[in-house]
Amino acid sequence: MLPSTAVSNLAVPVLRTVAVAAGAMMARSGASARTLSRRNVVRATPRIPTQARLLASAATATAAAPVASADATPNLARDKKYLLPLYGRPDIVLTHGEGCRVFDSDGRSYVDFCAGIAVTALGHGDPDVARVVGEQAAKMIHSSNLFHNEHAGPLAELLVEELGARGHWSEGAKVFFGNSGTEANEAAFKFARKFARAHHETPDAAYKYGNPTFHKHHVLSFQNAFHGRTMGAISATPNPKYQSPFAPLVPGFASVPFNDVAAVEKAITEHTCAVIVEPIQGEGGIHPASLEFLEAIRRRCDEVGALVIYDEIQCGLSRTGHFFAHASLPAHLTPDIVTLAKPLANGVPIGACIISDRVARAVKPGDHGTTFGGNPLACAVGRVVAGKLRQDAFLKHVQDRGNQLAAGMERAAAGLNAARAGTVVEVRGKGLMVGVELDAKVDAQKVCDAAREKGLMVITAGGNTLRLIPPLVVTAEEIEFGVRVLEECVRAVASAPN
Ligand SMILES: Cc1ncc(COP(=O)(O)O)c(C=O)c1O
Repeated sequence: MLPSTAVSNLAVPVLRTVAVAAGAMMARSGASARTLSRRNVVRATPRIPTQARLLASAATATAAAPVASADATPNLARDKKYLLPLYGRPDIVLTHGEGCRVFDSDGRSYVDFCAGIAVTALGHGDPDVARVVGEQAAKMIHSSNLFHNEHAGPLAELLVEELGARGHWSEGAKVFFGNSGTEANEAAFKFARKFARAHHETPDAAYKYGNPTFHKHHVLSFQNAFHGRTMGAISATPNPKYQSPFAPLVPGFASVPFNDVAAVEKAITEHTCAVIVEPIQGEGGIHPASLEFLEAIRRRCDEVGALVIYDEIQCGLSRTGHFFAHASLPAHLTPDIVTLAKPLANGVPIGACIISDRVARAVKPGDHGTTFGGNPLACAVGRVVAGKLRQDAFLKHVQDRGNQLAAGMERAAAGLNAARAGTVVEVRGKGLMVGVELDAKVDAQKVCDAAREKGLMVITAGGNTLRLIPPLVVTAEEIEFGVRVLEECVRAVASAPN
């Protein structure tokens, strides 16, 4: 659990004590949802059943046996036979979705609080996304980076414009498109090392440090971080589970505790070329970075000529209620590189690495590349998705629903802790990225399994934490349902004999 002093303004809306009456809050949030225009948010009020019907379907789901049905069995058997078994998955087969609901092959429906791990920001079956996928697929899916295409430039322009509007470092910024989050981070590490080589691994530096082989290629990351699964990205992801089986890792990577100012001040040296940090750690358990911590990183990096990389792959693109998560930070806390992926094309694979002007100048043709990245299909979809995510009304909707979700879970936590002290350790996060850390004796995965049987899809994050990351178009009614199911399930798991 973070000390309260370690919580930055990123976390303030969630961590405040909530004393708002439920009725008043729901009335307010309902009003704000209604003010969303159809142009800004397609299906801000998705076609979903009333809460009564949701709850009824939840009851049905509870009654349904949680075993594979005749419909699911052949699929599951085939998956077992042919797919590499890398994932622990429940015995259901998802077939389709609509808004914030997903359906399985038995016709059971679930309110989706995981959005394909923070990907489907516009929900499932968004008509504009479906239209542009169809139109662009018929026109041109791929052309390679040997040629310009119609959509990569405009999508890059939109992202850089947003940096200008809501961030603070857009002038001359450039975008590299890849296909995933891990590739966006790999690109960031390469560009940072290239920048260090161009600017610091010079005869002057060798003279300054009295070392003819002076090097500046160290990358610092933080405990509980997650930056992806490729070799560079796992080298920056200090989790023995991800690293040990694949050692030796890429040389030059090190990590220190998150939100530890003293550790950062010591660990960033003249040899550091970059520090990578998630403004809110996602996989690690929804931990917001403190302002003092981000300040220390920026200050030390400036002192030693290192670059700051913000990994906004999970927390960026409007999830916190700001298009860029770092847009809510003070102006001087800008990164030199920001990486994006997950929701950028609502599930069509894409990643983006945005670098500042001075970094871009160090990167030359041929330094990096990709076959698929920046293809016309992904970028056409990205333009539609990012165009919606950037709207003020959309961001307001995320803030309102985020406040409702946090308040609901705070209230649930108070009730659960009154019945059994210490059941909920903390509710934290920002916008629609909320973590609910449970006592070690209340297994968060068991809560997720129980919630699924009641019609709610929810996942965990590190440290026995429930990770609530619904599609950003989630409605007040769906949040109310999710909070109620989670409260019931935490209570049931907490009171079950071990
Ligand atoms: C913060 C962060 N960085 C990087 C990644 C890796 O992204 P991908 O799985 O698209 O490679 C993830 C994925 O969960 C992430 O949450």
